[in-house]
Parts: sequence; structure tokens; C-alpha cells
Amino acid sequence: MVKMLVSYYSRSGHTKRMAEEIAKAAEEAGAEVDLLVLEKVDVRSLMDYDCLVIGSPTYYGQMAGVVKEFFDRSVKIHGKLAGKVGGAFSSSGLRAGGNETTVLSILQAWLVHGMLVMGTSGADHFGPVSVGEPDEAALKSCTKYGERLVEYSSRLSK
Ligand SMILES: Cc1cc2nc3c(=O)[nH]c(=O)nc-3n(C[C@H](O)[C@H](O)[C@H](O)COP(=O)(O)O)c2cc1C
Repeated sequence: MVKMLVSYYSRSGHTKRMAEEIAKAAEEAGAEVDLLVLEKVDVRSLMDYDCLVIGSPTYYGQMAGVVKEFFDRSVKIHGKLAGKVGGAFSSSGLRAGGNETTVLSILQAWLVHGMLVMGTSGADHFGPVSVGEPDEAALKSCTKYGERLVEYSSRLSK
């Protein structure tokens, strides 16, 4: 069974809502999922999962400082996450306010950890995004993302 962490930083709840949707879909697709606020995650626990998904609000077109600081602390386990699957999602205030670059900034950090990331040929190529409170389309994208991450991770663990 795929073990997945869905974690997020969220001040006004938009990124949190996306995290809940991804976690629910992943659980329904058969994964064992921990849904945790990022502030409660010990970086060493990242080694316990097959798939790691982190969401951040868009701050100045990038992940929020709290999330970057988390990645900086993850140097303690550098090299130990290689081969795992990484995912990312973001909520921004504006339609073209940098939500995609935020998703990419998180995926970039996963790549530096030696992890594998997954794109989507349909909408939300890099990972789910929302503008403000996630609407129906954003929540659907989160559902599909959760399902696909489980499918991809389970293929790799065979
Ligand atoms: C410090 C700060 C920087 C922000 N920078 C951006 C930005 O660059 N682009 C944007 O579209 N929204 C920006 N926003 C708005 C948030 O990304 C947006 O409100 C988001 O939905 C908040 O997510 P949350 O409810 O999970 O906290 C910023 C907000 C704050 C507080």
C-alpha cells in the first residue's frame, strides 16, 4: 500500500481545502494518507513515505517562507528521499499571480532531493492551483491529482 503525506501551510484556509481534497482522493484510491499542517511535520518523518505532497500559498510568486524554511531543514536527510514521488499545489490571490511558479518551486526542491515528479497533459500541468478559495474546477483538479499520484506511486513500488 502506498504511504502518502499531504502537508500544507495555510493562513486563510485555501491551501488547506486543496490538501483535504487531495488526501481524500488518495485515500479513496487506496493509499494510507497522513494529512498534516507543515508546522507539525518533523523532516525526519519524510523518510517514512512513498509519496510526499506539499502545498503552499503563493507568496511573491514562490513558496511561503515557512515552507522554504522546512525544505532548508530537510538537508538533515539529504539523499534519503531519492526515488520517492513528490507533488505540489498552491493557492494564489490573482489568476496569474505566480501559482504555477510556486508549484514549480516546490517540485524543484523535490528534484534536488532526487525525487520523481509527475506532470499532467491536461489542465494544471505542474500540479493543482486555485485562485483564492478553490472552486469546483480546482477541487476536481485536486481529486484527479490525488488519484494519479497514488497510481504512479504504486506502479513505482512494484
Ligand atoms: C506575504 C504574502 C504574499 C503574497 N504574494 C502573492 C503573490 O505573489 N501572488 C498572488 O497572486 N497572491 C499572493 N498572495 C495572496 C495569497 O497567495 C492568497 O491569498 C492565497 O489564497 C492564500 O492561501 P491560504 O488561504 O492557504 O493562506 C500573498 C499573500 C501574502 C500574505
